[in-house]
Amino acid sequence: MFGEPPAGPALRPLATAAGLNFGVATNADVVRTDAAYRETLLVYANTIVAENDLKFGPLSPRLGHYDFRRADALMAFAADHGLKVRGHVLVWHHQLPDWLKAADYTPEQARELMRAHIFTVMGRYRGQIFQWDVVNEAITNAPRTPLRQSFWLDTIGPEYIALAFRYAHEADPNAKLFYNDYGAEELNRKSDAVYKLVRDLKQQGVPINGVGLQCHFDVAAPPNLEAVAANLQRLADLGLELAVTEFDARLHLPASAADLEKQAALEHDLLALVLRQPACRTFMVWGLTDARSWVPGFYRGYGDALPFDAMLAPKPALYGLQRALRQAPPVSGSGSARPMR
Ligand code: G3I
Repeated sequence: MFGEPPAGPALRPLATAAGLNFGVATNADVVRTDAAYRETLLVYANTIVAENDLKFGPLSPRLGHYDFRRADALMAFAADHGLKVRGHVLVWHHQLPDWLKAADYTPEQARELMRAHIFTVMGRYRGQIFQWDVVNEAITNAPRTPLRQSFWLDTIGPEYIALAFRYAHEADPNAKLFYNDYGAEELNRKSDAVYKLVRDLKQQGVPINGVGLQCHFDVAAPPNLEAVAANLQRLADLGLELAVTEFDARLHLPASAADLEKQAALEHDLLALVLRQPACRTFMVWGLTDARSWVPGFYRGYGDALPFDAMLAPKPALYGLQRALRQAPPVSGSGSARPMR
């Protein structure tokens, strides 16, 4: 593989011409050590997001200490190659530092800890990260407990969500601040709860700019794309930007040729839907190659969820994305249809 030209069609110029922030979740180690991966990513993406390198736990393994080496290396890679960077994730119930969870805090101490974390991380990359997932997965789909139990909810209370956005806006006034979640792509109880949350935040004057739909799908149980389109539109009608933030389309293994074609159809159809929604200018896939996906470790018996296989060969899914991008509505010069934000 070494030294061979990257596999597959170059989607980066197509995505850029369509006015779309388009790319993958990745990490500092693989872009440094794997030349074939790096070269493939660079012809596929105009945007990257850190899969783990910008999360609280990985950044701050010891109280009062931040290790930015990986995050800095990934930011330098992006800058060297003209890639935009999505920030993921400031306030989440998962991947928190052990030292944070090991102590008790007053609400005031917890608020200060959250503020210090947001200012430390956003401040370091101010002006370099165009969108941040400020709060991730705060909503459950349980009717009686819509807010997910978390360190932040337990120590600060429900107002932690609005606070996180207010701190983030202070830390980088030009970054677009997103709420991000999974399982809230179609019209369902959870997406209703997300809609209510972000509507209320906007009505309270909280500086929220957008909603990220993670889009972790099972090809055998595909989303109702008309419902996804309707959900996108009702969020857009609130004046919010939208983003597909973590798309992958898992298959039950071993995947057949028919499965891979179904996956390609879903990839095409979702991206085509996004390209028809002017408020959605970001489409991120949660990984580049099946060799490096979270899916097999989380969904036993599933995998093959990404556009390139484990040997970095393009799959039908990649050509599905290419078809959608080629059919993208033209970006009007007037900046109306789809200027990349
Ligand atoms: O880096 C350590 C390594 O030092 C250690 O040896 C190894 C074994 O313990 O763990 C490594 O950390 C792992 C990390 O990924 C980096 O590979 C963590 O255990 C593992 O839990 C972590 O998984 C990540 C997961 O979030 C954590 O919840 C996945 O890579 C990542 O794809 C996944 O991404 C999330 C989004 O952030 C939010 N939306 C859902 C999505 C999928 O779960």
